Amino acid sequence: LIQLGHQVKMGSRKAGHEKALTWVAKNGAAASQGTFAECAHFGEMLINCTAGGGSIDALKSADLNDLNSKILIDIANPLDFSHGMPPTLSVCNTDSLGEQIQRTFPGLKVVKSLNTVNAAIMVNPGQLSAESVIFLSGNDAAAKATVAELLRSGFGWTAIVDLGDISTARVTEMLLPIWIRLMLVQGTPLFNFAIIR
Ligand SMILES: NC(=O)c1ccc[n+]([C@@H]2O[C@H](COP(=O)([O-])OP(=O)(O)OC[C@H]3O[C@@H](n4cnc5c(N)ncnc54)[C@H](OP(=O)(O)O)[C@@H]3O)[C@@H](O)[C@H]2O)c1
Repeated sequence: LIQLGHQVKMGSRKAGHEKALTWVAKNGAAASQGTFAECAHFGEMLINCTAGGGSIDALKSADLNDLNSKILIDIANPLDFSHGMPPTLSVCNTDSLGEQIQRTFPGLKVVKSLNTVNAAIMVNPGQLSAESVIFLSGNDAAAKATVAELLRSGFGWTAIVDLGDISTARVTEMLLPIWIRLMLVQGTPLFNFAIIR
């Protein structure tokens, strides 16, 4: 995001997280860090990159005025590691983390995306040997269009599939069990799904 010219603030439950400080030191004036609440105040667009089990709490720590009418790209997955590997989904089938966030914060424009690929692929899908797919779910058409433009022009995604409203976050979150199994058997997270017609 910084390479694309954006100002980026990385959040944490407590300001001054060691990893955030290292990241700021490496990335210069466009990078800053703080609490989740400070990030919500700072950002024109928000990205939820928190552990799924903590996402609602992280967002609740922000002032509602700093969330209302902003786009939130929700890349989180509701993974429960409490019984070890592989994790299970803490919500699925008839609900999803994306929907829980949208219900809890009706003023946010939640767009679920990027949760089905590794972080290195999110921002550089061109490193894979063929075109692969990225999904969008959300209730607000304009917010999805804005996110699609970032994915296309910013990161280089070409196969962007709008699945529908935020309830379709269920199906991409439920891709995680097969994604994790594939990562374990292949020994790398650097892969993605493609739709072949
Ligand atoms: N890593 C990837 O390649 C990748 C790919 C696709 C999707 N995702 C999704 O992106 C999210 C972030 O993944 P990650 O790999 O960065 O590591 P992670 O360990 O899942 O998430 C770390 C973040 O979650 C916050 N957090 C953890 N427990 C919390 C709680 N109880 N309350 C509030 N915040 C809490 C941490 O805050 P503190 O800084 O305060 O500890 C930190 O900001 C996950 O939902 C993951 O499924 C990750």
